[in-house]
Amino acid sequence: MNLEDDLAYELFSEMEIAERVAALGEAITKDYADKADEGIVLICVLRGAAIFMGDLARQIKLPLEMDYMAVSSYGNGTKSSGVVRILKDLSSSIEGKHVIIAEDILDSGLTLKFLIKSLKARKPASIEVCTLLRKDTPNQADVNCRYIGFECPNEFIVGYGLDYAERYRNVSCIGVLKPEIYS
Ligand code: PRP
Ligand code: MN
Ligand code: MG
Repeated sequence: MNLEDDLAYELFSEMEIAERVAALGEAITKDYADKADEGIVLICVLRGAAIFMGDLARQIKLPLEMDYMAVSSYGNGTKSSGVVRILKDLSSSIEGKHVIIAEDILDSGLTLKFLIKSLKARKPASIEVCTLLRKDTPNQADVNCRYIGFECPNEFIVGYGLDYAERYRNVSCIGVLKPEIYS
């Protein structure tokens, strides 16, 4: 069986993703060069952003901490439930540090809205978002993303960390799932 057979079509190839992630890393390296002494923390939003953050971190040529937070709003469905839960909190304090949230996708925006609010309360020196994908979702919450990899259509997409019912995260490209898989 081949996981990629479940894709209707590919949106972003492994190569396109790698190039874009390198460009994001380069931009962050430039923007944060004078902030490294104060401390930079790259926060991975588990589980979807794990692969993205692993690749992004290696494209940022500055010393930084990597920390992980698990939140979930989707469960096994294809639509956001609107309720964001913290399943795992950060291991270290972010007070006085420059926080960059690495997220795989901005969809309804509820996850990031919740995260930014909850992390701002911990008094970081600054907080920015780096999202690989921004979906063209109607009524998306207003989330300020300084770094965006790609804009993508309002389809159910998987791969490169993004799942459907916990599958497809390990697909190397990003693609649109065949409707018969989830309907
Ligand atoms: C997905 C995705 C984002 C979030 C985006 O996570 O990884 O974190 O939803 O959706 P939103 O903008 O509508 O909030 P999910 O809740 O499925 O958990 P996961 O990362 O473990 O797959
Ligand atoms: Mn997620
Ligand atoms: Mg998910």
